[in-house]
Amino acid sequence: MIIIAKTLKGLEEVLTKEISDLGGTNIEKLTRAVKYEGDDALLYKSCLLLRTAIRIQKFMGEYKVSSYDDIYLKIKKMPWETLFTIKDTFAIRAVTFSNQMNHSMFLGQKVKDGIVDRFYSKFDKRPNINPVSPDFWVDIHVRDNQMMTVSIDASGDPLNMRGYRIYPVEAPLNEVLAAGLIKLSGWQPTQKFIDPMCGSGTLAIEAALIAADLPPHTKSRKFGFMNWKDFDKTAYEKIKSEAYSQKDRIPTFKIKAKDKSLQSLKAAETNAKEAGIASYIDFERKDFFSTEKFEDHVAITNPPYDERLKLEEATDFYSKIGDQLKKYYINSTFYIVSSNIEALKSIGLKPNKRTHVLNGGLEAEFQKYEIYEGSQRV
Ligand SMILES: C[S@@+](CC[C@H](N)C(=O)[O-])C[C@H]1O[C@@H](n2cnc3c(N)ncnc32)[C@H](O)[C@@H]1O
Repeated sequence: MIIIAKTLKGLEEVLTKEISDLGGTNIEKLTRAVKYEGDDALLYKSCLLLRTAIRIQKFMGEYKVSSYDDIYLKIKKMPWETLFTIKDTFAIRAVTFSNQMNHSMFLGQKVKDGIVDRFYSKFDKRPNINPVSPDFWVDIHVRDNQMMTVSIDASGDPLNMRGYRIYPVEAPLNEVLAAGLIKLSGWQPTQKFIDPMCGSGTLAIEAALIAADLPPHTKSRKFGFMNWKDFDKTAYEKIKSEAYSQKDRIPTFKIKAKDKSLQSLKAAETNAKEAGIASYIDFERKDFFSTEKFEDHVAITNPPYDERLKLEEATDFYSKIGDQLKKYYINSTFYIVSSNIEALKSIGLKPNKRTHVLNGGLEAEFQKYEIYEGSQRV
């Protein structure tokens, strides 16, 4: 089968590596997605284990289409009754970049009609639509060259919904982005890790899960493929129990999660407990601008991004971050992800690397600073 893993901007490369490590074959990197081949077991593993995928889809086919009616006919020809039953609910997610067929709602309607009429022709009955939480999501994508891709969603809820964020704070980092940034940093569990402005703990929790080699999701996580007619529960349970039993990789160093806000720390601790890795993290209430030294660390942090903050205030805050790095993070690598691109310039150190990412729909930069004794401002 062909599988498509969707991801966030900037994470295609790390997702490709994850898929290759899982055993995917014929891997092809696309824009915000990776296409590969594998069996049912790999599809299950992809949903359960990939840290940097936001959705997993089973590719059903690609068709040249000339009109909405043509789409209807091609959809009606597909064997939907082998995938789900009249008792299941379904919904369509349609996206079109075609000039000729540019109405996504109408496109979705035509696809729905094709599926419904297929069932009518076979059983004189039809499955119902549930646009909010259907048993079965059908994804339709029409490109500008009139090629239509049909796939079915295997993940259910987006895969950033790990199940551990039970105590949210304002502006948390997307969990998939957090895992992706850790992978992009090249941090290894044998190195010291700190998030000095941890908020609800997303980066620290994802780092601890990586270190412990545990799936990113809580055990009770449900996936879309569990509603499929051909779902092999025994095979999935075996994969799951193997994945959660690999608890022998205890991090060499405890992950450090700090924040000056008591409420943020409470959120981080609560979420880490829910994720089952609280014992791998040291939580501490601490102002980033304190005089504690962190040598030989990999630091990844997401400083406050507040649109209400005046630029001068933000500039001042980021400039002070730069001063702090030079004094207290000697021989460490410090990564900052922020949507405040203007303020990032006032850190005053030359980034060794910059990667463009999207953080909750906002353009953001992930900047790397290697700090040595005598690192100078620019
Ligand atoms: C954008 S939030 C981080 C969100 C976090 N990445 C998450 O996923 O939840 C920024 C955090 O920085 C913290 N913060 C702001 N100023 C700080 C300082 N001087 N020292 C330590 N933490 C600070 C805030 O309390 C807030 O929790």
